[in-house]
Amino acid sequence: MAPRAFVPPRRDAIPPTFFGDAVLRGRAIFDHTGRYARPFVGNALSCGDCHLGEGREADAGPLWAAAALCPRFYRGHMATLAVRTQAAFVQSENGRAPPPDSVVLTDLLAYVHWMSRGEAIGARTPGRGYLPVAAPARGPDIGRGAMLYAQQCAVCHGGQGQGRQYNARLIFPPVWGPRSFGQRASLAQKAVLAAFLRSTMPYADPGSLTAGAAYDLAAFLDA
Ligand code: HEC
Ligand code: HEC
Repeated sequence: MAPRAFVPPRRDAIPPTFFGDAVLRGRAIFDHTGRYARPFVGNALSCGDCHLGEGREADAGPLWAAAALCPRFYRGHMATLAVRTQAAFVQSENGRAPPPDSVVLTDLLAYVHWMSRGEAIGARTPGRGYLPVAAPARGPDIGRGAMLYAQQCAVCHGGQGQGRQYNARLIFPPVWGPRSFGQRASLAQKAVLAAFLRSTMPYADPGSLTAGAAYDLAAFLDA
């Protein structure tokens, strides 16, 4: 039996306090980043587009897992959760880092702190990150990725990867192009993208892609 992932507090358990207000604002920023953190965002993606279920979902990039493991040594320096959160704006949002004392940053940290309540600090909790996928020995096939994209993804993300709007509001995020993530994003690494896709997409049937299909799609999105 797989070890059990951490279960964050219930959504309705946010306390009616000043701290709770910051948590609510942080959650809003997390799921509607362009709307509530506009000056720091350079594309059309929200944090919650890649960290699913408002950042709570196991094997879909949960933020409680990051909280338990920070600060930690990362790429040559000690990274706090605040620094990793700032980096997310630069790398994944094509934007710039909110200053250390900004309300945007402290609200996001309050949200993550709240959702991590009850978790063991320092633990490598099951459910962190995305489910890793072994690269197929045959190497990725971009042509097959294009075919799979047309069959399983374009309905939501659009034939040109542009996402889909409804009443002038984006309902499905863009997956390539200037309004999506760029080469600096963690998701631009093929192994990370394949793991993300295998864990979370297609949206209505996550886990249905084979490892080979996930790599083919990752290679296609990258191209
Ligand atoms: C384009 C997809 C994408 C978007 C948008 C995105 N992230 Fe991430 N984020 C990732 C991926 C993928 C990782 C995992 C990196 C890895 O495992 O190497 C990550 C990692 C992180 C980490 C570090 C986790 C750790 O354990 O060190 C934090 C914190 C984080 N993201 C917060 C955010 C916040 C806050 C936002 C919004 C401002 C955001 N992310 C937007 C994809 C995204
Ligand atoms: C039913 C609609 C739907 C389908 C089909 C679907 N997605 Fe998604 N996808 C979403 C939604 C919605 C999100 C944002 C996550 C959220 O809101 O929980 C997302 C997020 C993403 C992201 C991360 C954010 C971004 O825009 O870069 C990628 C990459 C992605 N999907 C790729 C794919 C691929 C590849 C397929 C086909 C295997 C696929 N999706 C199928 C709805 C869909």
